[in-house]
Amino acid sequence: MERDPQAHWLETETALHYARAAVRVGIWASEKVLLERHFSKDHRILELGCGGGRVSLGLLQSGYSNVIATDFSPIMVSLARAVLADHEEAWEKIVEQQDATALTYPDKSFDRVIFAFNGLMCLPSRDHRLAALRAIQRVLKPGGIFLFTASDREKGANAAFWAKEEQTDDEIPGDRWHESDTSPVFIHSSTEAETRGELFETGFTVIECPLSTEVAADGPLVREFAGETRFFVARKS
Ligand SMILES: C[S@@+](CC[C@H](N)C(=O)[O-])C[C@H]1O[C@@H](n2cnc3c(N)ncnc32)[C@H](O)[C@@H]1O
Repeated sequence: MERDPQAHWLETETALHYARAAVRVGIWASEKVLLERHFSKDHRILELGCGGGRVSLGLLQSGYSNVIATDFSPIMVSLARAVLADHEEAWEKIVEQQDATALTYPDKSFDRVIFAFNGLMCLPSRDHRLAALRAIQRVLKPGGIFLFTASDREKGANAAFWAKEEQTDDEIPGDRWHESDTSPVFIHSSTEAETRGELFETGFTVIECPLSTEVAADGPLVREFAGETRFFVARKS
């Protein structure tokens, strides 16, 4: 039977996992470094795939006041609203339902866009990733910056797994279903060259793309939640 690569994100148990992470894990040390380097408090910021509101909560608590948190999943949107409202009632109003591949905001609306913790790589295919990148490029202001992460299949902690993984001709390199407590999770692990290529094709210039471990030493909760991943900081060309 055909599996739905997006079904995992519509489940209550998954949403609860990300809502707990919003409260327990918070912003990673590595994310904080790059946010402080590339985002300013007066920027208009769009978060995509906000899950339980982990990044937006951290941004709001750190004084970034112009933030919109979005997710395509209704249950994620509900829980992110609850998490944010628990800290400050008015914050629930900043959460909206949006599909990253079909954003409805006007052109040039945001200074910064963030799609944290491999959200872009959870989209079902290269075509979906390109659609999201084009949508993000469209809603960014000229010179605006997009920050995201991608699990790297050539370098870092995941490389050993991929080196011994045998793929058949009909499989797309990097595509993988992970078992989870709920339904399996689809994620694509890219190479740096592949993601650079997709960014170039959609009108972005890469400013930097370090592995998370090269940015800062994340604590045990973050390592358990996310492992090692590669950041991409890309400017609208
Ligand atoms: C790995 S989780 C990361 C959640 C959150 N950013 C965090 O770091 O805790 C990926 C998120 O992307 C969302 N997502 C998946 N497909 C999406 C789409 N097409 N548009 C917007 N969000 C999507 C999922 O619902 C999920 O919340």
